[in-house]
Amino acid sequence: MPGRWTPESWRSKPIAQVPDYPDAAALASVEATLARFPPLVFAGECRSLQADLAQVAQGKAFLLQGGDCAESFVEFSANNIRDTFRIILQMAVVLTFAAACPVVKVGRMAGQFAKPRSAPNERQDNVELPSYRGDIINGAEFTREARTPDPQRLLQAYSQAAATLNLVRAFANGGYADLHRVQRWNLDFVGKSPQGERFHELAGRISEALNFMEACGLTPERFPELRTVNFFTSHEALLLGFEQALTRQDSTSPTGEYVDCSAHMIWIGDRTRQLDGAHVEFMRGVINPIGMKCGPSLEPDDLLRLIDRLNPLNVPGKLTLISRMGADKVEERLPALIRAVEREGRSVVWSCDPMHGNTFTATTGFKTRPFDRILAEVRRFFDVHRAEGTYAGGVHLELTGQNVTECLGGAQAIEEQHLADRYHTQCDPRLNASQALELAFLVAEMLKKERAGVGFPVPLAQAS
Ligand code: PEP
Ligand code: CO
Repeated sequence: MPGRWTPESWRSKPIAQVPDYPDAAALASVEATLARFPPLVFAGECRSLQADLAQVAQGKAFLLQGGDCAESFVEFSANNIRDTFRIILQMAVVLTFAAACPVVKVGRMAGQFAKPRSAPNERQDNVELPSYRGDIINGAEFTREARTPDPQRLLQAYSQAAATLNLVRAFANGGYADLHRVQRWNLDFVGKSPQGERFHELAGRISEALNFMEACGLTPERFPELRTVNFFTSHEALLLGFEQALTRQDSTSPTGEYVDCSAHMIWIGDRTRQLDGAHVEFMRGVINPIGMKCGPSLEPDDLLRLIDRLNPLNVPGKLTLISRMGADKVEERLPALIRAVEREGRSVVWSCDPMHGNTFTATTGFKTRPFDRILAEVRRFFDVHRAEGTYAGGVHLELTGQNVTECLGGAQAIEEQHLADRYHTQCDPRLNASQALELAFLVAEMLKKERAGVGFPVPLAQAS
């Protein structure tokens, strides 16, 4: 049984993926500084995301979560933030309109800095250095200086996250996300593609619908929600010293619950979900909605133990299970997990990360992902849910608003020899805006069928 939880109780547990800081005192001093900084998000916002996710758990909304694999200090710019925000808005509009379904929008941004690695060290030409673990920890450059974990980076990550969140809040509430501007969201390079044209056509229909609504008296003055969107942030809570430093007691709650104020939603990666490990320990104590990656090695019994630990009161919207099996394994591995969850009457959101199980290294040396494998995993994820009578509730994607060449295929038919053209990711290959939009149209089709009730009975746990 787990003992008493405190924001630092994770420190006495075995921990995976921990960086080796040469100066522990310097790290502790930075963490103490961060603990005095203002929170980035508020408890009420986290509760409101949980309420939205509860709608997803009940099959009444869809979760769209996406953004960079790893945000970087170098690529930090207003344009980059705007473009990521905009492609997520475009995808959300496609899903909302095509499937007539509310979409919960969660960015992998404003804090997505720390990366789990398959090996602690990297060797190049007989030189071995610590692996790059994300800009919040060390630098990507292959030099001893860059690769040595530096606590000052936590402060830079905090300030970048704060500035990103500030801009995102302004975009979401200050007029940019106004549905009346839907035509203007087409990114330049996407606008000329088949997806761009398709979006343009859909945006035209939305504008028509808005005009009609206004003629009927449903004006933005009376319904200000037409001018704003709810947009939430998320990241993998990997660097627990940072997460602890931003964890605060909710002053509005009589019971004094703890909130990790670094993001609205945080998730546990596939490499750090050990039941008695530090990451699960930390996550079980905060009230934020939690995600957990479910890779092919996860067994149903272990999943149930983790659910008990992370959501013991079975609160709808609290826990999102992010399946990342790989297109080849999803049909073999996912049904047993779903059945265990159903058998025990657990309320979860099922989301599909079709990125992390479909990565390979091309002959040119670039890590990549074929768009058709990504698509195949999403399709099979929906098929499995249909067969089980459960709800495929969301997708979790690595994407960017930029015109990068990191994933193969899509309507632009990116091939291995094109990868070098604009391969900018700090870590894993992302969908570019055109591929992301193409995926959104395809997911919208699947969601539309799912919501039309094609083989989707009300799950037993919610039927009563
Ligand atoms: C990620 O989401 O970037 C990641 C590393 O995923 P996973 O833990 O599923 O491998
Ligand atoms: Co990744």
